[in-house]
Amino acid sequence: MSSAEPAAAALRRLRPAEYEPMRAALAAEGLPTDDLCCAANRLYAFEEAGQVLGYGGLERHGSAVLLRSVVVRPERRRGGVGRRLVRAMLAQAAALGHAEIHLLTMSAADFFTRLGFERIERGSVPEALAATAQFTTLCPGSAVAMMRRLDLPA
Ligand SMILES: CC(C)(COP(=O)(O)OP(=O)(O)OC[C@H]1O[C@@H](n2cnc3c(N)ncnc32)[C@H](O)[C@@H]1OP(=O)(O)O)[C@@H](O)C(=O)NCCC(=O)NCCS
Repeated sequence: MSSAEPAAAALRRLRPAEYEPMRAALAAEGLPTDDLCCAANRLYAFEEAGQVLGYGGLERHGSAVLLRSVVVRPERRRGGVGRRLVRAMLAQAAALGHAEIHLLTMSAADFFTRLGFERIERGSVPEALAATAQFTTLCPGSAVAMMRRLDLPA
């Protein structure tokens, strides 16, 4: 690669000591932050050339996984960053061995539909995810549940 080419954006897993800017970005959008430190979470910054473009999280419970806490810096929205970030998160979940992934969203169902997610009944999410704080207390009952199958790595 020539030095003139920009480095591709990539996910970097955050250590708990690095959660604060992600918490602030989520809080600014009214997204839940109370359970960010949950041990089941793997939180990531999506970075390009050392600059954070957005954040995302995977909340893992056995074979089930929730895509959560997806946020793109406001000034970088509507330029394809969210799509790239989610695709990277999906690849990460598949690399961890998950065959499908779920999420809850209030306002971005159409965005996730474009990325291959389908709306499902809340009652049909795996029990382990239905028991999480995201489902039971933090996301309003009107939030849409969605699911997508993942391509497992060869
Ligand atoms: C939702 C969010 C992550 C999208 O990020 P983004 O960088 O703007 O997304 P992209 O530019 O990659 O958009 C991909 C496609 O989805 C569309 N899109 C983006 N945001 C959308 C939304 N909220 N609703 C519907 N469609 C949306 C784009 O127009 C684009 O369509 P195209 O492929 O026809 O061009 C971003 O708006 C955000 O951080 N919102 C606040 C936090 C949030 O709501 N997170 C989701 C919580 S579950």
